[in-house]
Amino acid sequence: MLRFLVLTSLAAIVLAEPQPRYLEDRLERVVGGEVASPNSWPWQISLQYMVDGYAYLACGGTLIARDWVMTAAHCVDSTREWRVVLGEHDLLIDSGTEQNKGVSQVYIHPKWNPNNVVSGYDIALLKLSSEATLNSYVQLGALPPSGQILPNNSYCYITGWGRTSTGGPISDELKQAYLPSVDHQTCSSSSWWGSTVKTTMVCAGGGEDSGCNGDSGGPLNCQVNGKYYVHGIASFVSSYGCNTIRKPTVFTRVSAYIDWIDSTMY
Ligand SMILES: *[C@@H]1O[C@H](CO)[C@@H](O)[C@H](O)[C@H]1NC(C)=O
Repeated sequence: MLRFLVLTSLAAIVLAEPQPRYLEDRLERVVGGEVASPNSWPWQISLQYMVDGYAYLACGGTLIARDWVMTAAHCVDSTREWRVVLGEHDLLIDSGTEQNKGVSQVYIHPKWNPNNVVSGYDIALLKLSSEATLNSYVQLGALPPSGQILPNNSYCYITGWGRTSTGGPISDELKQAYLPSVDHQTCSSSSWWGSTVKTTMVCAGGGEDSGCNGDSGGPLNCQVNGKYYVHGIASFVSSYGCNTIRKPTVFTRVSAYIDWIDSTMY
């Protein structure tokens, strides 16, 4: 039995432009993207919290080991009873492929500052209460090599169940949107994000026809040599919305945190 209520946001709204906002709070005018074919992103997890037996969608995340999930720090910097759902496609249908896991420990990057998302470090690891069973619905996401930088316009997809309009419903089914990466030189130029964007971040989207749909903490899946790697953790968007031209969605650059990930996981 699955009892599921509407999305509520954990994140604080940061209102004035050019201050960034978290993805849950974005004001979408146009939402691109399409429903993903079921379980085509088998490392995507749904991070939920429980209140009085009801589950609330908080964020997305990535399964990186059988008992470890990677998400954004801002998703988990309040104390909650967390639950991770693996092998999920439609939040409202129990298809039998789901694995529900508790979270026994939350590790937030020690340099994360909840009042200053633009300084970076928006990364956290969750230790699951038991190991996942890997199968065609549940797989580990591949992490890039430490320090790897994507070339401009790399082929990436954002995935998630994120809300599609302010106050509107979440998508019941996992969605995906093509979101080509933008290199740091371009993204940090003055007509793009300027100095808001740090070298420990990855930008994707920001073009005329880039779609967007996803949620904080979820993966930016980028193809390198024919294989998908999780290059980003969705962190923030412009308060004008994530389709705003030259204001791409900003992700934590996973390849900048491989040493921290390796030293935190046991
Ligand atoms: C990177 O790609 C974007 C989007 O296509 C483009 O606007 C920008 O000029 C490119 N930057 C460089 C340095 O080529």
